[in-house]
Amino acid sequence: MKITYLGHASLLIETGNSRIVVDPFITGNPLAQGKIDVDAIPADYILITHAHQDHILDVERIADNNPGAVIVSNFEIASYYGSKGYKYHPMNHGGSWMFDFGRLTYVNAVHTSSFPDGRYGGQPGGFVLETPEGNIYIAGDTALTVDMEVIPEMTELDLAVLPIGDNFTMGYESAIIAADYLEVDLVMGYHFDTFDLIKIDHEKVKAAFERAGLDFILPEIGAVYTFKLWEEDED
Ligand code: NI
Ligand code: MN
Repeated sequence: MKITYLGHASLLIETGNSRIVVDPFITGNPLAQGKIDVDAIPADYILITHAHQDHILDVERIADNNPGAVIVSNFEIASYYGSKGYKYHPMNHGGSWMFDFGRLTYVNAVHTSSFPDGRYGGQPGGFVLETPEGNIYIAGDTALTVDMEVIPEMTELDLAVLPIGDNFTMGYESAIIAADYLEVDLVMGYHFDTFDLIKIDHEKVKAAFERAGLDFILPEIGAVYTFKLWEEDED
């Protein structure tokens, strides 16, 4: 399994024969300019955690570029894209579905989820992906919540992708506690640095994860991380 960090909370996960894009926000992210070509992103699935602009901005552009792509999110968000003619798969909290790449569960997040125009975007969530190449939790925008404790009851996680930028989501100190709730040793941080309100001190954050005895990836935009080895392959 390969994960390419597309910046902010945007990921490209490649596992089996599936290319899974998560929360694409490229064209609005000045940090991604010159590093990510939004029109070169392949997608069989587009997973959306919630309807905020910084998670959906490039959904339609990527879906237009990849006509087979299925948009997967909560009922309200998925149906919204369905009504615009896109392929979609609606889910809701606690529900799982077997896709080509494995089992996907939409799980709780503590956040909000309006579309940029104020339209109701359902309740926000995160995703658990269980694949032959590993099990991943993508938290989405969320507070630290004891709801995370149910995830290791369902599956043994290999990696948690957690927000660490603070202000709009939990910060890195809460993410360290979340790793304990999740019973996971490997954390990738995301949702940091994009805006002034979520800028972090990289060295301070890395040191805190190290003190906590966790393996921590502070991803670089455009870098590819290969699961199992977790070595940075290339830019
Ligand atoms: Ni948000
Ligand atoms: Mn966000």
